[in-house]
Amino acid sequence: MSYLPANDRYEKIPYKRCGRSGINLPIISLGLWHNFGGVDVFENGRKMVRRAFDLGITHFDLANNYGPPPGSAEETFGRILELDLKPYRDELIISSKAGYGMWEGPYGDFGSRKYIIASCDQSLKRLGLEYVDIFYHHRPDYDTPLEESMMALNQIVRSGKALYAGISNYPAERAAQAANIMRELGTPLLIHQPRYSMFDRWIEDGLLDVLENEGMGSIVFSPLEQGLLTNKYLNGIPEGSRAAKDWGFLQKETVENREAIEKVIQLNEIAKERNQSMAQMAISWVLRHKGVTTALIGASRVEQIEELVKVQDNLHFTEEELGRIEGILQNR
Ligand SMILES: NC(=O)c1ccc[n+]([C@@H]2O[C@H](COP(=O)([O-])OP(=O)(O)OC[C@H]3O[C@@H](n4cnc5c(N)ncnc54)[C@H](OP(=O)(O)O)[C@@H]3O)[C@@H](O)[C@H]2O)c1
Repeated sequence: MSYLPANDRYEKIPYKRCGRSGINLPIISLGLWHNFGGVDVFENGRKMVRRAFDLGITHFDLANNYGPPPGSAEETFGRILELDLKPYRDELIISSKAGYGMWEGPYGDFGSRKYIIASCDQSLKRLGLEYVDIFYHHRPDYDTPLEESMMALNQIVRSGKALYAGISNYPAERAAQAANIMRELGTPLLIHQPRYSMFDRWIEDGLLDVLENEGMGSIVFSPLEQGLLTNKYLNGIPEGSRAAKDWGFLQKETVENREAIEKVIQLNEIAKERNQSMAQMAISWVLRHKGVTTALIGASRVEQIEELVKVQDNLHFTEEELGRIEGILQNR
């Protein structure tokens, strides 16, 4: 007899083991960096989170500074938890991070123990939670001893404020050092959060090997290059898109770069042959690597999440397809 209630939520998306841990993550996770800050976007953000959860997306990623203004994405998610998802807390993996500038003065940024622990406490207040599932150091800080930042993560886990620890944006060598320290402290790092897409492949150059050796999983952010690896910018910059919003993260010049757009046009032809949208193929492509646990997407509408979850219909690439994609990316 099964003790599980009848619920097809968890048949809607595949899950993958996160490194050599006990945690399975959905192959697509939802990040709340953009489109979740402030009251005017609340109902849309709430709809996206609820729909994502109903599609089996159990993992939601935050950071202290997501908004704008900083902190507001955590507040938004805290309200959604209170209104909708609290009864499902044990079905959720919620993460947050500290590492970028968050408050005035010398203790509101980078990697000191003072900053990381205070920031985690602030995040828990905004989220209305007693603990997050994963707490990250958001970026390496070479002016702080690595031991100090790692001991702060270790303490956060030991004091029950997070269940697991992670690092983000750490290059290969620094990631290996961090993993070593955390293993010795008895709190092995669960996961690394690096940027990875068809247009940004730095993790193939050593980091993925480190993660495999250390038994860490990976959650790769901006797999759509913030929208560039979709067909949305093929004919200019649509109103309401991230590039039109002028937030400074996706520059107009980036999406108007003919060389990049020409590549997307060619890649889009391969996607069509695979019966996928360009966005779906970009996600399948990052997931093709066994060291990639989950693709961390952003979205501005429910329909985008629904489209991306269908990526599971075609995760496989033939050697011929991979060769053609490589040729386009390398401009051969
Ligand atoms: N650790 C770090 O340093 C770091 C840094 C950046 C991000 N992150 C994390 O990664 C998450 C994702 O980053 P991201 O938002 O840059 O990811 P992304 O998935 O590369 O870009 C998301 C954007 O792509 C567009 N999009 C999504 N689905 C689409 C579809 N089906 N068709 C057409 N366009 C589509 C939307 O743009 P429009 O808004 O224009 O519709 C959406 O806002 C963040 O929320 C955050 O959690 C972490």
